Amino acid sequence: MSNKVALVTGSNKGIGREIARGLGRLGMAVYASARDEERGRQTAEELRNEGIDVRFLQLDVTDEESIRRAADEIDRSFGRLDVLVNNAGITVDDERPTRTRPSNTIEATSATADHLRQVFEVNTFGTVAVTRAMLPLLRRSDGARVVNMSSPLGSLTLHSDLSHPVSQVGLLAYSSSKAALNMITIMYANALRDTGIKVNAANPGRVATALNDFSGERTPEQGAAIAIRLATLGDDGPTGGFFGDDGPVPW
Ligand SMILES: NC(=O)c1ccc[n+]([C@@H]2O[C@H](COP(=O)([O-])OP(=O)(O)OC[C@H]3O[C@@H](n4cnc5c(N)ncnc54)[C@H](OP(=O)(O)O)[C@@H]3O)[C@@H](O)[C@H]2O)c1
Repeated sequence: MSNKVALVTGSNKGIGREIARGLGRLGMAVYASARDEERGRQTAEELRNEGIDVRFLQLDVTDEESIRRAADEIDRSFGRLDVLVNNAGITVDDERPTRTRPSNTIEATSATADHLRQVFEVNTFGTVAVTRAMLPLLRRSDGARVVNMSSPLGSLTLHSDLSHPVSQVGLLAYSSSKAALNMITIMYANALRDTGIKVNAANPGRVATALNDFSGERTPEQGAAIAIRLATLGDDGPTGGFFGDDGPVPW
């Protein structure tokens, strides 16, 4: 892994920071990116002090100009990209679960079209914008890996199974943005199957981060593990799949 180059979006905190740390510990040169310059630089500094080969990139996945600048910078420095982790993700405050407001108490019908627009902008459209901008660099890698951070909340199968706890969760904007992301994962994997680029979706489990008011049970490091595995798949590994620590997640 020591000559590989990786980019992780939204890596100033939470699971993304642990993915950047984990890939860096494997010897990759890691672009830790963040929409906020100060928060991002702080994290990059922290990782650098641990001996990780890390570079900071300002990258807001909703800002095409910052995405283009990031791609230009990677092109200038390395001329290719081996690993892209589309990790940046949000929910809207109106449907953010908290320790006192579990996700199964939030009504799906309360989400507005504007809530969906805001969440899709980052979780779904942002992933498409970043992936398309990085594709020329990914194609120059000898077998690039793309990992999209998804969620079981994006699973149509689990939402349709009324005996499954996911079907009780009312986060409409978030869940539908991840369902669309799952479709994008499959279609990119199919389109890129002949190039050696593998595209998979990762389920980190319920991780205690700002996204859920730190109400998850898992640590960010545990949540990062599956993304790191998918980012380092061998040539015989899967593409177009959705995986958690325990194996495949139903679409
Ligand atoms: N936590 C869970 O239980 C869980 C479960 C399933 C899936 N996931 C997914 O895992 C991923 C990471 O989430 P997390 O739990 O680690 O949440 P988090 O701690 O809130 O981190 C989210 C990251 O995304 C960044 N971000 C938000 N909008 C952005 C934008 N427009 N451009 C670039 N970066 C942006 C945030 O930056 P700021 O600091 O600037 O806001 C932050 O670095 C997300 O895709 C999430 O949907 C999480």
